[in-house]
Amino acid sequence: MTFDLESIRADTPGTERIIHFNAAGSSLPPTPVVDAVVDYLRHEQMTGGYEAQADRVGDLESIYPVTAEYLGCENDEVAFCAGAGDAWWRAFSAIRLEPGDRILMSRSEYQANAFGFLQAEQRGVELTLIPNTENGLIDLDALASELDERVKVVSLTHVAMANGAIQPAADVGRLVADHPAIYLLDSCQAAGQLPLDVDELGCDFLVYTGRKWMRGPRSTGVLYARSTVLGQLGAQPFIDGRSAEWSNDGRHYDLLGGAMRFEYGEHFHAGRVGLAVATRYMLDIGIDTISARTQLLAARLRDGLTTLDRIDVLDQGGPKGGAVTFTVDGTASVDLGARLRNAGLAVSVPGRRNTQFDLGGRGIDTVVRAAPHYFNTEDEVDRAVDLLAAI
Ligand SMILES: Cc1ncc(COP(=O)(O)O)c(C=O)c1O
Repeated sequence: MTFDLESIRADTPGTERIIHFNAAGSSLPPTPVVDAVVDYLRHEQMTGGYEAQADRVGDLESIYPVTAEYLGCENDEVAFCAGAGDAWWRAFSAIRLEPGDRILMSRSEYQANAFGFLQAEQRGVELTLIPNTENGLIDLDALASELDERVKVVSLTHVAMANGAIQPAADVGRLVADHPAIYLLDSCQAAGQLPLDVDELGCDFLVYTGRKWMRGPRSTGVLYARSTVLGQLGAQPFIDGRSAEWSNDGRHYDLLGGAMRFEYGEHFHAGRVGLAVATRYMLDIGIDTISARTQLLAARLRDGLTTLDRIDVLDQGGPKGGAVTFTVDGTASVDLGARLRNAGLAVSVPGRRNTQFDLGGRGIDTVVRAAPHYFNTEDEVDRAVDLLAAI
C-alpha cells in the first residue's frame, strides 16, 4: 500500500484540533479502531456481553493471527493483556527464581519492571545493572562478561520511556541464545514504531501496550511468550478459568499449552477487537514505512530544536527512534509541557521517577518528550519548533 498521508489524517480527526506529539504516551487512535470498539460495545448493549462474545468470536480471535503476523510468531504464542505492565508481570511472576539466582537488567528499564526486580532482590535474588556505553546503548561486552550459570533472567527495555535511543535488542538476543537464561524484552515504546521479529530479537518474552505507537485503545496490551519458554517456568501465580482446565475430580488443573495460559477470561473485549484493528491498520500501512517516517519526523524535530538557544536535546544512541527528549534551560519541564498543551501542542513530561537508571543516572530530573507519529506532518514539526522558539 502506498503511504497516503491525506487519508491517514482523515482517519485521525484529532489532527484537526491539536498537534499531537504524544505517541510515546498515548497516541490518537484512527477512526476504524474507535469504530470497532464502539461497535462492539453497542453489540454488547443490544445483546449482552456473553451473547456478543459468542456472536463476535471471529473478531475477538483476530488479535492472535494479526499480532503473530507482526511479531513473526505462532498464534498460540500471543496473549492479550491489559497493558505492557500487566503483560510484564504475568510473565515475570511465572519465572522460577531462587535465592542466589541472578537477574541482569538494563539501564533503560521502566519503573514497574524495576519494582519487580527489587521485589525479587528482597527474596535473595542478585540484581546486576548492566552499564551503557558512552552513547547510551547497553554495553554488550559487559553483558557477555556477566552471563554466568546463575543468571536466570536477562531484561532489556527496548526503547526507554524518555530517551530516543533504540537499544540493540537483537544483539542481546544473540548473546543470550547460548545461555539458558530467560530473555525478557519490554518493547512497549518500540511496538508500532519499529518492526519486531521475535526470532531475530531472540527474546523469550516480549511485552507492549496498545495505546502508544500501536494507536490502539487504552487498557490493551500484548504478551508474546515463546512456546519453548513455557516448560522453563515455575508456578504461575495468576491462574484464571481461561488459563487452565480443572480436572473432574476437582483436585488438579492443567495450564493451557500456549500463551493463553496468561490470559484472564474477564478482559476488555471491545479493546481486544480494537487492538486487532489497530494492528491490521499498522500492517496495512507497513511497519517499515511507519518506522522510516517516524524517524524522519523525529530527526527533523531534533535538528530544529538544536538551532534554538537554551534547549538541550537529550536523546542518546543511534539509531534513534521517534521520541525526542529535551529540557529548556531555566524553565521547569512540567510548566513547559502545560504551556505547550495550552498552545495546541501535546507532549508529555516523564521524569527520573519513571526511569531512575536512565534519566536518574544522567542526573536529569524531568524532560519534555515530544513524540511525533507517522500521521504528523513536517509542517507540524516546524510549527512546534517555532512555538518553542517563541516560548
Ligand atoms: C518502556 C515502558 N514499559 C512499560 C510501560 C508500561 O505500560 P502500561 O502503562 O501499558 O502498563 C511503559 C509506559 O509508559 C513504558 O514506557
